[in-house]
Amino acid sequence: MTPTTATPASLDAATSAARAAELRALLNHHAHRYYVLDDPEIPDAEYDRLFRELQALEAARPDLVSPDSPTQRVIGKVLAGFAPVRHAVAMLSIRTETDTTAGSALAFDARVRRELELADDAAPIEYAAELKFDGLAINLRYEHGVLVQAATRGDGETGEDVTQNIRTIGQIPLRLLGVDAEVVEVRGEVYLRRTDFEALNERQREHGEKTFVNPRNAAAGAVRQLDPAIAAQRPLSFFAYGVGEVRGWPQPDTHSALLDALQALGIPVCADRAVVQGPQGLVDFHCAMGGKRDALPFDIDGVVYKVNALALQQRLGFVSREPRWAVAHKYPAQEEVTLLQDITIQVGRTGKLTPVARLQPVFVGGTTVANATLHNVFELRRKGVRIGDTVIVRRAGDVIPEVVGRIAAERPAYVPNFRMPRECPVCASRVLREKGGIDHRCTGGLFCPAQRKQAILHFASRRAMDIDGLGDKLVDQLVDGGLIRTLPDIYALDAGQLAALDRMAEKSAHKLLAALHSSKRTTLARFVYALGIRHVGETTAKDLARHFGMLERILDASEAQLLEVNDVGPVVARSIRSFFEQEHNREVIAQLRASGIKWDETEGTADQSPKPLAGKTFVLTGTLPALTRDQAQAMIEAVGGKVSGSVSKKTDYVVAGAEAGSKLTKAHELGIAVLDEQELRALLGTGQ
Ligand code: IVH
Repeated sequence: MTPTTATPASLDAATSAARAAELRALLNHHAHRYYVLDDPEIPDAEYDRLFRELQALEAARPDLVSPDSPTQRVIGKVLAGFAPVRHAVAMLSIRTETDTTAGSALAFDARVRRELELADDAAPIEYAAELKFDGLAINLRYEHGVLVQAATRGDGETGEDVTQNIRTIGQIPLRLLGVDAEVVEVRGEVYLRRTDFEALNERQREHGEKTFVNPRNAAAGAVRQLDPAIAAQRPLSFFAYGVGEVRGWPQPDTHSALLDALQALGIPVCADRAVVQGPQGLVDFHCAMGGKRDALPFDIDGVVYKVNALALQQRLGFVSREPRWAVAHKYPAQEEVTLLQDITIQVGRTGKLTPVARLQPVFVGGTTVANATLHNVFELRRKGVRIGDTVIVRRAGDVIPEVVGRIAAERPAYVPNFRMPRECPVCASRVLREKGGIDHRCTGGLFCPAQRKQAILHFASRRAMDIDGLGDKLVDQLVDGGLIRTLPDIYALDAGQLAALDRMAEKSAHKLLAALHSSKRTTLARFVYALGIRHVGETTAKDLARHFGMLERILDASEAQLLEVNDVGPVVARSIRSFFEQEHNREVIAQLRASGIKWDETEGTADQSPKPLAGKTFVLTGTLPALTRDQAQAMIEAVGGKVSGSVSKKTDYVVAGAEAGSKLTKAHELGIAVLDEQELRALLGTGQ
């Protein structure tokens, strides 16, 4: 990269054209590293600086603006409608096997073999197996390497011109890397990652606006949004799965190689794909991805099998607008219909009252669901859901099951609208809603057994005090039986009290006491997190511990001092301040400390304890022989190191255990030091 201090005006025409071209190439390269590879080479501020330089150049010389310039990702005008686009090559759909058992894969292979007139003893067919993304199909047209048009599928023959919205998707390159072919049309799916979808709905909920039923609807709505400013607020992603019209670009012989080639052009291609042999390979892939489905960051509704050799694809051809060489093999649906039998109220740790749907149990997203969240009363009303309705339940990944809507036609004659109770259903304290707020809260605080139970469970959770064995059933008994009223009571439990509880054998009572004992040796960050202060998650707790070093300093910090902490804004600062201002919270803390909870007071402060690995970045991959991932991370952080999720040039060490995958390969490629557990311990100074 060439740093420059020249202003646009001081460059002559030829130089500014050259510099503009250089900046465009640089910015496109870095956008690819950032959005597609998730592996930036330069800090965001540097990217912004280059971007502004190009903007300034283009402002001075409008003739230098080109369609592949990253400045052209800007948000365009509100449209009256979308222009129709006739597809050069029709966008077809694929046959879907809704039978989710292995039989579908076997039937597909048998069909293909029959069409190809293969003898029974002929070699197995090679297939490319990939995921079926649940989004919206898009055709991206690149002419001479530059994105000139993006269109929806429409009826397959004619789609809609959505170029303006698609341009705002950072993952989609405006220029292909190293190709100048006359035409390359890339086909794939625009989708929303689950976390992006959750965040989007959370934002909608906060603003009291309509939420989206699922990521697919939200993505489709964004792509077909006439106001590109709104489209740009939805962080869309893209995966390619094929091509449309291609002219002047030599295509490989197989589908898998075609996807590799698209990836090399800078197009996002999903890594979860495989080349397999014969029907058993298809069944294995379906099964493996089924096991992985919940852990994927996006929704899939099945997998897709494609005959890998393009020559064989041609021989097989199409039937009724579907290729004979491809099939989609579904998984159990993530949305199902069932009966809403009742609506009850759950009281959370912070007193929030959540309406919960009690459902006729239904198999959805791989498990049986009997309860689902309705979020809040406003959302419930907006969805128009009432007891007795037939509703749609969605369960995807680890996300809590939710009721997303109802089937309009099927409603019993009269059912009153659901109302929030005025008193807490658990402790009868008054229920309040902040002015203009959405959530109803019980005002009982730790007097409310529901809040107390949740507070204890949070305190005991793995990432907080890590008290093994203190689960919800036991907490119910302890709180309902009056054995625990406040957090410090946990540490006053004795073997006799525990053994007297239902189902609690002497052995498990002793185990719990041992867990209680060992939890007392902790870290300041864990302790602060365990207190359950509203808006203080694990990261904020770590930041507070690092910044202040000592509990007393956090306790007495003013809002202004709290605002100096990394990522602490006014809402969080106020919440922390008001927590510590309450006398009973200070008492709880004093009693907890009196029961023997300890940490190294200097642990958090860089200036007080030696941090031999300060500034070093580690990536953990695979399973280590003795340490869990959390333990390894804690050990690294204790000596000032940082643990990151992906390997880049900035990674100092990759710690690899059994079944390490692509991160290890990447470490080797980049020449990064790879450690095993023993070497890590040695480096951290805890080696035996
Ligand atoms: S191939 C001619 N591959 O599923 C074959 N489609 O009916 C063209 N889809 O709306 C499609 N993931 O957008 C293919 N890996 C994948 C896919 C995929 C999702 C969508 C596609 C289309 C529908 C197929």
